Parts: sequence; C-alpha cells; structure tokens
Amino acid sequence: MKIIEANGARIPAIGFGTYTLEGETCVDMVAKAIAAGYRHVDTARMYGNEREVGEGIRNSGVDRDDIFLTTKIWWTDIAGDKLVASAEKAVEALGVGAVDLLLIHWPNPDVALEESIEALNAAVDKGLTKHIGVANFTEALLDEASAMSSHPLVCNQVEYHPFLSQESVRAACRRHDMAMIAYSPVGQGGAVLNHEVIRAAAERHGRTPAQIILAWEIAQDRVGAIPRTKTPARLAENLDVFDITLTEEETAAIDELTKRRQRLVNPSFAPNWDRI
Ligand SMILES: NC(=O)c1ccc[n+]([C@@H]2O[C@H](COP(=O)([O-])OP(=O)(O)OC[C@H]3O[C@@H](n4cnc5c(N)ncnc54)[C@H](OP(=O)(O)O)[C@@H]3O)[C@@H](O)[C@H]2O)c1
Repeated sequence: MKIIEANGARIPAIGFGTYTLEGETCVDMVAKAIAAGYRHVDTARMYGNEREVGEGIRNSGVDRDDIFLTTKIWWTDIAGDKLVASAEKAVEALGVGAVDLLLIHWPNPDVALEESIEALNAAVDKGLTKHIGVANFTEALLDEASAMSSHPLVCNQVEYHPFLSQESVRAACRRHDMAMIAYSPVGQGGAVLNHEVIRAAAERHGRTPAQIILAWEIAQDRVGAIPRTKTPARLAENLDVFDITLTEEETAAIDELTKRRQRLVNPSFAPNWDRI
C-alpha cells in the first residue's frame, strides 16, 4: 500500500468511500473492505452512516491504530460554536475514539473562514481528531486557509477523475505539502470507464478500466483516491492497483481527457471553482 506523507499525516493512497452505504450493507462492506486490505475509510456527518462505519471497523478485528478514518463536518455546521459540537457527535457516533482526519465538507461563504479554521484547530486540541483538512476548497481558499491554520491542513478532498482537471488545486496541495484526495475517482461508475483511451489501456495491461483510472490517480504526487462500491468483488479490484505502471503515452492520453472539465458534483452551494 502506498502511503501519502502530508504535513505529518500518513494517508493510505487508496481508501474506501462510504457515501450512500447504509445499515447492515454499510457495516458489512466496511468490515469486508478492511478484510480485503483497506486501511483508510471515508465517511461524513452528512452520510448518516457513521454509526455503521464504526461498527464495521470494530467488527473487522483490525487494530484501530492501523486504520486511517476520516469524517467531515457539513457546511451548515462550520461556524465557530457549531463545528466542535458536530465533531463531538461524529466521534460519539463512530465509537472508535478520535478520528484521524476531520474535514470541512464544503466552504461556507456566510461564515468567516478564520472562524471555521479556528474551530477545526480546537477539535485537534480537544482530542477529537489527529489531523485536519478541507474538502471542495479552491486554490485561493486553500491558500487562505493554510495560512491561518495553526495545526497544518493535511488534505483537500476534491472531485477528480480523467474527465476533470484539478491542475490548480493539485499545484496548491503540493505547495502546502498537503494530499489531494480524489472523490468520485472512478467517475461514479459512469462514462469515463467506457472511454476508448481507458479501455485500450485496460486491454494492454490486462486490467479493468477502474484499475487503470485509479493507477493514473495514485501515480501523481500526493494524490490519493477513495472509490466506493456496494459490490464485494470490486473491493479487491479497486485496491489491486499499486503494481500498474502506465506508460508516458498512456498517462499523457488520460491527462488530455481532463480538459473536458466534466464535473459530476456541483451543488448550488459550491464555491466559484478554479478554471483548471
Ligand atoms: N467531499 C465530498 O464532497 C464528496 C463528494 C462525493 C463523494 N465523496 C466521497 O468519495 C467517495 C467516492 O465517490 P463517489 O461515491 O461519488 O463515486 P465513485 O467512487 O467514483 O463511484 C462509485 C460508483 O462506481 C461504481 N464502481 C466502483 N468500483 C467500480 C469498478 N471497479 N468498476 C465499475 N464500477 C465501479 C460503484 O458501483 P457499485 O456500488 O454498484 O459497485 C458506484 O456506483 C464517496 O463514497 C465519498 O466517501 C466525497
């Protein structure tokens, strides 16, 4: 397993995404993911499944210290007085002690950034999380936030796949020694998996399209990915990517696809995204 070193955090490059997983399916898939070798699990207050994610981790029998657990605070709860209370609820629901990484899920233009970042730092000081970071931050927001944080921010979790360039954010993450964690890394199972450039590379390497895409992502400096699946067989598939080395031509051809800038996640409260 490749580890991304980011401002003191050691983040396994492939994690298990849990958005939309609920109830027993969630408990079961988290335990199965850990049994398959995942050591990084991603959830959020908004997913409503922290209790089940925690149960899956406990059921796995793997030492808690060996698992990197991330949760996120929903953007309506990032004001100074609300953020820590929300983090406390998250830790209680998960029931496995402090989380490894606490993220602001989305920026909120109605809350002063300094106030949210201060509260995020307070969550570390209160022992609720080991590390802090953000999600869905633009380059400018990331520069601002890192400058005002006393504990270093260790990641920006953003949408990233071969149909969406994140050149600006990726450069900003490198500049700040942060990881860029790709969400929707296999394009939510959609058209990107069927693109001829991806399919041709998959055929050449004798691997699946999803594996080619994940290999392309994690080969990039400080980039990790958190694919999600409800299909047990795909757990191993999405983790078995560390031995894939794409050629320069294959990498360049996939890089070229990112110019399409096809965003899958773009809610009304999204920030003013970077152009590239
Ligand atoms: N920070 C944020 O704002 C944010 C936003 C979105 C997501 N996330 C996080 O990122 C995680 C992943 O993103 P996502 O759930 O949007 O999308 P994703 O992981 O790119 O795609 C998940 C979809 O792809 C399919 N899939 C998974 N592996 C596959 C494979 N090997 N071959 C073919 N299809 C495959 C799954 O189908 P089956 O389930 O049927 O196998 C599922 O429908 C989320 O679960 C969540 O933890 C964060």
